Amino acid sequence: MTEKYKLQKVLIAGAGAMGSGIAYLFARAYPEATVDVVEPSAQMRERAQEQFARWNARDTARDQAKGITTSSDCSNRIRLFPDFQKAATDYCLLLEAVPENLELKKTVFREFSTRAKADAIFASNTSSLSVTSLAAVLAKEQQANAIGLHFFNPPRVMQLIEIIITENTSPETEKRARAIAADLGKKAVVCRDAPGFITSRLGIVLLNEAIFALQEGLMSAEEIDTAMKLGYNFPMGPLELADFIGLDVVFAVTQSLYENYQDPKYRPCLLLRKKVEAGHLGRKTGRGFYVYGDK
Ligand SMILES: NC(=O)c1ccc[n+]([C@@H]2O[C@H](COP(=O)([O-])OP(=O)(O)OC[C@H]3O[C@@H](n4cnc5c(N)ncnc54)[C@H](O)[C@@H]3O)[C@@H](O)[C@H]2O)c1
Repeated sequence: MTEKYKLQKVLIAGAGAMGSGIAYLFARAYPEATVDVVEPSAQMRERAQEQFARWNARDTARDQAKGITTSSDCSNRIRLFPDFQKAATDYCLLLEAVPENLELKKTVFREFSTRAKADAIFASNTSSLSVTSLAAVLAKEQQANAIGLHFFNPPRVMQLIEIIITENTSPETEKRARAIAADLGKKAVVCRDAPGFITSRLGIVLLNEAIFALQEGLMSAEEIDTAMKLGYNFPMGPLELADFIGLDVVFAVTQSLYENYQDPKYRPCLLLRKKVEAGHLGRKTGRGFYVYGDK
């Protein structure tokens, strides 16, 4: 059995769909670690706090049913802060899960740069943006420790982490990232830095194409999803999945692939753009390609 990777202090930026799940994963996998989360929205901090308690109760009950004695409530080791000034320093791992916008992510990495321990790992959960240009805002000696850790939604459930390595990522950092993925109970695949890596490059084309088919009136949303679930054995249809990911995220990733590859096959569908402009972002706002009852 390989020895568990040691992590004492973790900092996550963003407590949205991804950041909150990732923070919980780290707190649960590393009982000796404190996990700090910076999230500017009071509503999102409140939501994350409730989720941590709910997930912990569920996991503890599951462990007890299997006869496993769970140590302390891991949600007590996650602290939420409204800004970086309130957070600490000397973090061993700093991971950003803020919206898919390179300039915003660079601002966060600059904050990370001043709050990290000497050998800290700098990770991004970006779905499509250049980890190389994001890492370029770090101090020269920190750039070898920068890596993409692309989790999937919801992070507690999905088995994959796509690890993204840049020209400057050291083999030691890649090794540490693989060890962390194993500690979190995930399967890792490693991809060289390129727009959309493998998963978004392939997946987004399908989602965007399904939206084009809907726009062209070929089938209803339900029929498109049924066709792909029953015809291809997909667990979710592409439009359901787009709503689940968040249409703002899908749009940002499609736009980024289009800009980076300069290839019309990635052009975002107009219907997707209009949904985002209208604030119909999928499950998180209660309406996207479908309408959801609880919002
Ligand atoms: N949603 C998905 O299915 C999915 C899957 C894999 C990767 N991703 C990637 O993860 C990242 C986050 O996506 P998400 O779906 O969690 O988005 P989200 O909109 O649900 O959450 C982003 C959070 O970041 C917060 N935020 C904004 N500015 C901030 C700042 N300066 N510092 C700290 N927090 C800040 C926002 O208030 C928000 O709560 C994106 O890069 C996205 O591409 C998303």
